[in-house]
Amino acid sequence: MTALTLKPAGVATLRADAIVVGVAKGAKGPVAAPGSEAVDTAFDGKLAAVLETLGASGGESEVTKLPAQGDLKAPVVIAVGLGPVPDKDETYGAETLRRAAGAAARALSGVKKAAFALPVETVQDIEAIAEGALLGAYAFTAYQGGERNAKNAKKGEGPKQPLGEVVLVGAKPRDKAHKRAAERAIALAEEVNRARDLVNTPPNDLTPESFAAVATAAGKENGIKVQVLDEKALAKGGYGGILGVGQGSANPPRLVKLAYTHPDAQKTLALVGKGITYDSGGISLKPAGHNETMKCDMSGAAAVFATVVAAARLGLPVNITGWLALAENMPSGTATRPGDVLRMYSGKTVEVLNTDAEGRLVLADALTRASEENPDAIVDVATLTGAMVLALGNRTFGIMSNDDAFRTSLHEIAEEAGEASWPMPLPADLRKGMDSPTADIANMGERMGGGLVAGLFLKEFVGEGITWAHLDIAGPAFHEGAPYGYTPKGGTGSSVRTLVRLAERTAAGDLG
Ligand code: BES
Ligand code: MN
Ligand code: ZN
Repeated sequence: MTALTLKPAGVATLRADAIVVGVAKGAKGPVAAPGSEAVDTAFDGKLAAVLETLGASGGESEVTKLPAQGDLKAPVVIAVGLGPVPDKDETYGAETLRRAAGAAARALSGVKKAAFALPVETVQDIEAIAEGALLGAYAFTAYQGGERNAKNAKKGEGPKQPLGEVVLVGAKPRDKAHKRAAERAIALAEEVNRARDLVNTPPNDLTPESFAAVATAAGKENGIKVQVLDEKALAKGGYGGILGVGQGSANPPRLVKLAYTHPDAQKTLALVGKGITYDSGGISLKPAGHNETMKCDMSGAAAVFATVVAAARLGLPVNITGWLALAENMPSGTATRPGDVLRMYSGKTVEVLNTDAEGRLVLADALTRASEENPDAIVDVATLTGAMVLALGNRTFGIMSNDDAFRTSLHEIAEEAGEASWPMPLPADLRKGMDSPTADIANMGERMGGGLVAGLFLKEFVGEGITWAHLDIAGPAFHEGAPYGYTPKGGTGSSVRTLVRLAERTAAGDLG
């Protein structure tokens, strides 16, 4: 894990492997950003000119490496683009700083120690740079450079390790607010990275059982109460949705309950995560081209798990119950067939028309169970539908809710956290498409508006009068393109930062 330390000033004399500075896009070419003064001095005031010669524009997240000059102790300077120079009286936005720090940190993989001398005006800037750097430094290398390979590997081969230490220049280690900002950034980034690790872990190693074991261990470490229902307990409890999805797999399902409580808590938040450790589609098998990334189908559960741990680490004065609905969706002789009817935990019957619409089945049971404890609000998170990806693209998650004000709040909270989201409706007319001639409801409805249909299905399993929202993170949970900003390839940890912020806002009494 990348370490983070604070340093008020003195970047020139700091013994580090590299110095990161910002470069902005000015009207007449690149402009050295605040924070780079000492480096600019070492370059005889020609830092911007040198950057221009090298073709740097200051465009967002552009990375330019320069050999150090003058009496700089570090051998390398990394100039990272910040985009346009802010208007007069404005400063660089938090997301701009986060992305720049992330891009720089990624470019520094394999390096031991780097000083980040980016523009710092406020405590929020310190937090943004810290968060961006720690998120951008992330790499998933657990399955690379194995023992057999390592023995034969020449020196320098094998996966590069993430940047070892970030020295954040412009932040005072003895300033309480600065320290708190850094600590929050560390806890948050480490928990986002925990979610990413889980998503990236291949599905032959991350099964419902092993996921539950990971949650149990982390719970112990962080003072979170963890209860695991195994397949026997699920059968006894009548969890027909979770069992129906899991029954085709050799890896049986689990329902994990994580309970974080605080003595001063006024509110209780319930978070429910879709945890399909692999989604083959089941008997309604996905075709090749649609199943290669389906280890990501537990991203919701990973986000919920990481959020509960983050809340515990931050000691937030709010109670949070996390529900991880874990199952593997596989075809086999014991699998649920299209046409089967499941009796859900709520007692409702569901005709399974498409076994690939499995997420709503496991979530339904968990939502009903979470409702029994009468929380002040429930938020579920799921890689639920391809339709939401078609609607909003790969970087934006959809928010649906039975409460317009809560949906609006969540959208604003996500924006503050630096996560792209958009409010989506739950049109009542789409409900009739799920009418079943055999059961109370079918697990599929009209194809058009499929993301909203799924949301309407979930809504039926939320307890009467409970405020509820549903985040469909199918787009942003797993990033297949080239890394950008602080977003790596693979698992992104989507929604963790939003959920932690929701927990903080709930703790502060800002919501309902
Ligand atoms: N896990 C998928 C949704 C998904 C798609 C996640 C793309 C991430 C990326 C989900 O279980 C699924 O298969 N949904 C079906 C529902 C349909 C059968 C009603 C879908 O969206 O096609
Ligand atoms: Mn599916
Ligand atoms: Zn799925």
